[in-house]
Amino acid sequence: MSSSKKRGAFIVIEGLDRSGKSTQAATLVERLQAKHIAVQLQKFPDRTTTIGRMIDSYLRSESDLDDHTIHLLFSANRWELATSIEETLNAGTIILCDRYAFSGIAFSASKGLPFEWCRAPDVSLPAPDLILFLDITPEKAKERGGYGEERYEKEETQRKVRQIFGRMAEETAAQYEKSNHGRWVTIDASQSLEAVTADIWKVVEPFVEGLSGPIHRLWE
Ligand code: TMP
Ligand code: MG
Repeated sequence: MSSSKKRGAFIVIEGLDRSGKSTQAATLVERLQAKHIAVQLQKFPDRTTTIGRMIDSYLRSESDLDDHTIHLLFSANRWELATSIEETLNAGTIILCDRYAFSGIAFSASKGLPFEWCRAPDVSLPAPDLILFLDITPEKAKERGGYGEERYEKEETQRKVRQIFGRMAEETAAQYEKSNHGRWVTIDASQSLEAVTADIWKVVEPFVEGLSGPIHRLWE
């Protein structure tokens, strides 16, 4: 491997439940693969690990956990995959991540936990180079066949979650002005599937050739 070899970009997709994240992530992966660009899809929560199975059981209301406890489990689920994410990026593969620490803060803070307390356990995780926030009103999201059965899939919760995402959009933009890394782009997810796909591609395209700089640390 030559020393000039670029690393893969770390791209996160965030949004409310039913904002189209998973569909758009799958479409983007296909597009990149068709261009022979190495990409790996990572989903949080990753329900396949031991911690992930505890989270899954909580989300399906098969178990109850104190709000702080479940928050820390979501964060631990990211930390247990942090090294593997870094290795993948350093090997030149793009990581496309369906939810990350921003969901972690938004959903827990929506229950009344202090914002800074929610942020703390995720400080120093590998930082995304790009955050795509698929923005949709809870009303519109609900029209899409309605919410499922899982915890948090309620209009009132989603409304609070969206407000907190709005706060993070502003803070991340201010941070980006200063540091020039970790760009947050809000995409209008109420558009047609094709229009959202096109908007995402415009933003992602400059990142697909890889990046030369180091992987940053979240909120450091
Ligand atoms: P999913 O629908 O994308 O699988 O996510 C499951 C739920 O978990 C969703 O309502 C968002 C929530 N969540 C958190 O509360 N904290 C987190 O850190 C993450 C990644 C998701
Ligand atoms: Mg869901």
